[in-house]
Amino acid sequence: MSVSTASSWQSYWQQAKDKNVCELGGTDHPAIEQFWHRFFRDARVGAKNASGCPRIIDIASGSGAVFGHLYSVVDEARCYPVCVDLSPDAVNAVVARWPAVSGIVADGAALPLAEHSAEIVTSQFGVEYAGIEAVRALLDIVGPGGRAGLLLHHRDGAIYRECADNYAALREVRENGFVEGAIEMFPHAFDVLEGGARAAYEETSRNLIPAFRDMERIMAQYGRHVAGGVIRQLYMDVNHIHSNLPRFNREEVVGWLQQTVTELDRYMERMNSMCRAALSAQSFETLTVDLANSGFDLLEAEALEGAGQAYPLAWSLVAEKVA
Ligand SMILES: C[S@@+](CC[C@H](N)C(=O)[O-])C[C@H]1O[C@@H](n2cnc3c(N)ncnc32)[C@H](O)[C@@H]1O
Repeated sequence: MSVSTASSWQSYWQQAKDKNVCELGGTDHPAIEQFWHRFFRDARVGAKNASGCPRIIDIASGSGAVFGHLYSVVDEARCYPVCVDLSPDAVNAVVARWPAVSGIVADGAALPLAEHSAEIVTSQFGVEYAGIEAVRALLDIVGPGGRAGLLLHHRDGAIYRECADNYAALREVRENGFVEGAIEMFPHAFDVLEGGARAAYEETSRNLIPAFRDMERIMAQYGRHVAGGVIRQLYMDVNHIHSNLPRFNREEVVGWLQQTVTELDRYMERMNSMCRAALSAQSFETLTVDLANSGFDLLEAEALEGAGQAYPLAWSLVAEKVA
């Protein structure tokens, strides 16, 4: 893999601007909203008119999906939670949106948070990216009588399947040489436009045909919306530029294609990191046994099903640290 997980997430959040969730179907399913409303209500954070609020820490917050749920049940003016993420841009986005939230840029695998320093610790499709040890370490932050609420990627779940398909389709695009072939062909196409010889253009455009056909095969196999539609968009954009060459600039086209290589690699790495993060039934079971053996009451530990979904959305875990 040519790009690191950290840089792939940072670049995602740098460009995300108005993205609320991590580009995957299922992450905004009503069952997820219901889970968080139930969790905050049962943890006695819920009443809009409650005075005071427990100390809440959300790990791998992204743009703050969990805070969206928190602040629909409690007034922002009464609750000052903490968000943690590897990406400074993600943390900045959360703090800009909810000034009551304080941000910490940190790796979930090395949290700079003291033992028992929070009454409520949450994470949604986040802490598991830092590895299963990070999930266990997160639980040390919960103080006696406090609660952890986690939604973790499920190895046989709907989101995992989507990520695995996205990853496979993106990898096939990178392997078929479509972008590199286009980078080779376009300068010769511009030469012809400017009155140059045709031979090199004809050879490089002929060389691109198998990759072009492979793009169509990938879209037919995985669906045209695979990888958030970026494969289809790339295919259409290359087609469009090729058919309307006089309207484009040589350097801009080549620069865009080079940037596309980087973006595809980062996207692929994010999908790969999601697949690696997902917990199998066995690792979830091991985690719950560890929890029960380390002073937690398990209030919920199961696959979270979503109406209309053929596969689970997540592993849901609610655990209370015995006082
Ligand atoms: C799938 S997104 C989920 C974000 C948010 N919790 C949500 O549900 O929308 C995963 C998040 O984990 C963060 N992340 C990835 N690896 C991490 C790590 N090792 N430590 C802390 N955060 C990490 C990413 O920057 C990203 O914001």
